[in-house]
Amino acid sequence: MKSVAGTQNSGSIGIQAKENTVKNFLEAAVEIAREAGAVLREEASRPPDITYKGDFDLVTQADKRSEAVIVGRLQEYFPDHAVAAEEGTGKETGSEYRWHVDPLDGTTNFAHGYPCFCVSMALARGNELLLGVVYNPIYEELFYGARGEGSYFNGKRMNCSKMKELRTSLLCTGFPNHKRHAHPNIHYYWDFTLCSHGVRRDGSAALDLAYVAAGRFDGFWEFGLKPWDTAAGIVLVEEAGGKVSDLDGKPYVLGGKSILATNGLVHAEMERVAADIAKKEAEKS
Ligand code: IPD
Ligand code: CA
Ligand code: CA
Repeated sequence: MKSVAGTQNSGSIGIQAKENTVKNFLEAAVEIAREAGAVLREEASRPPDITYKGDFDLVTQADKRSEAVIVGRLQEYFPDHAVAAEEGTGKETGSEYRWHVDPLDGTTNFAHGYPCFCVSMALARGNELLLGVVYNPIYEELFYGARGEGSYFNGKRMNCSKMKELRTSLLCTGFPNHKRHAHPNIHYYWDFTLCSHGVRRDGSAALDLAYVAAGRFDGFWEFGLKPWDTAAGIVLVEEAGGKVSDLDGKPYVLGGKSILATNGLVHAEMERVAADIAKKEAEKS
């Protein structure tokens, strides 16, 4: 492994880990995310080479090249760790350590030249998420955190917002690539828009979560996300003082039906609004 990849400019990630291992894993993840990010930056400078996985689900050369870098490095550094990567090149090893990798979160944005996309990597041991890294290579924004060690943005500690009320909150959500026409989230989007400062729909769930951790958004919800979309962002939000559950307030399980991530202060209010929307929708059918 190279020496610490660190933050945007420095050589240190700023975390004094009690045990060396998690710090080493985090240093490796930061290094690898930056290397994969450089590939995305390079790919972003030429016309995208797009294929389709389903109705609207794009995959580009950039997704594949980024994943090859990440999976290759993880295998080199941690050959016994399992890797679950979106484009399917990860591997099962039976290890209790598992990396959740989205080599390019925000592929649709990438394909349209909208600079809102990132690399997202998390490491879990069993059911516990140990660390997360989210990196936007265009803006060179690096978000990372480790369990019990806090969350950081370009080397500085970051915290969720202190917004207490939904009516003055800025929220974000996303819509699935598959079967969007049949999706109930449009009703949630409508109602949350009317009872807040607004709802952004930026097209990268990992960045949405990182922005909640950074205090840019006060709350985020979405349906049907995969473990590689959310695993890193969950660590960032929780370590920045926020809260993560499903939309019913039950513990969020990776790959679960819905996710709600907030600064903690508007969580209960968002759950109540979501419950009202769900009730209204059920009454219609
Ligand atoms: C997508 C993005 C988007 C979310 C979709 C995801 P991808 O991931 O995170 O924000 O709304 O549900 O599939 O396909 O760009 O990696
Ligand atoms: Ca994704
Ligand atoms: Ca992806």
